[in-house]
Amino acid sequence: MAEIKSVGILTSGGDAPGMNAAIRAVTRAAIFSGLRVFGIYRGYQGLIEDHIEEFKTQSVSNIISRGGTILKTARSKDFKTPEGRKLAYENMQKHGIDALVVIGGDGSITGASYLAKEYDLPIVGLPGTIDNDLAGTDATIGYDTAMNTIMECVDKIRDTATSHARLFIVEVMGRDAGFLALNGAIATGCEDVIIPEEKPQYEQLKELVANGFRKSKSSAMVLVTESKDENGGALGLARKMKEEFPDYDVRYTVLGHLQRGGSPTAADRILASRTGYAAIEALLQGQRNVLIGIHNDHIVNIPFAKAIHQEKPIDPELLTVLRVLSI
Ligand code: F6P
Repeated sequence: MAEIKSVGILTSGGDAPGMNAAIRAVTRAAIFSGLRVFGIYRGYQGLIEDHIEEFKTQSVSNIISRGGTILKTARSKDFKTPEGRKLAYENMQKHGIDALVVIGGDGSITGASYLAKEYDLPIVGLPGTIDNDLAGTDATIGYDTAMNTIMECVDKIRDTATSHARLFIVEVMGRDAGFLALNGAIATGCEDVIIPEEKPQYEQLKELVANGFRKSKSSAMVLVTESKDENGGALGLARKMKEEFPDYDVRYTVLGHLQRGGSPTAADRILASRTGYAAIEALLQGQRNVLIGIHNDHIVNIPFAKAIHQEKPIDPELLTVLRVLSI
């Protein structure tokens, strides 16, 4: 296996708080080990379009506390084609980039696995997504910050929900995973949660009302994971509730992209720093095509195939905790 002398870093897919801390960690750990570092802008699209710049230690100064990603990000359609990946590989060769660190979610790591396979490249992934939907790792970079943002917002909505004795349906992100909704609901003492892992969704809401949440409470808050189905999500569910229970004062809120912004929490900064450092260690030890994750507070290297497109089950105990405590 050829010696690695230089490494490229990119962030891809939806940005997540803590990506900057990860860029800093990878850059500094690589320079510490004598490697050259190249920052690749706008994810795979920047790799295809040769938007690449050499990074020094100072390139990542004062970014650990900043949300977003200084490298910018993109969801590259071109990279999904073999022609796009060929251009990406050629630009790596042009700059003498021997290895890549890809910071992103399921789609980004899938892209990395294609490139690694087609061109026999050493690539390591860092789990950068607020959705926490990568298997094999207990947490992803950005997840804790997004959950804290959800908590702050839902606490505020509760104030007005209680004042008006209303049922509030609050939609959070997560794509196809209910981690943000479920743990967000526990953290804010919600009356219920509606997540893709549990079905049917509308029946659940009806049950909450039928059981008469008003017997013991003046307001009810339900978190729901976003949905592509127009009858799902906060809007779809609120519409149906209003039709079927006209006596109830139902409102909905979609938290949207504010969940992706803001300064990362300590947990996300530490996770980003640990996994970023471990990514360079893994590459130097000859590991490739692994996602660096965390399990029981230990760094773990997860083969790409075991991290992407995998079921990451919800712990049923969390659902029990939520429902027992919301009586
Ligand atoms: O994957 C992160 C995420 O924020 C998902 O929770 C959400 O479904 C999606 O990205 C939104 O993507 P975009 O910002 O491209 O609309």
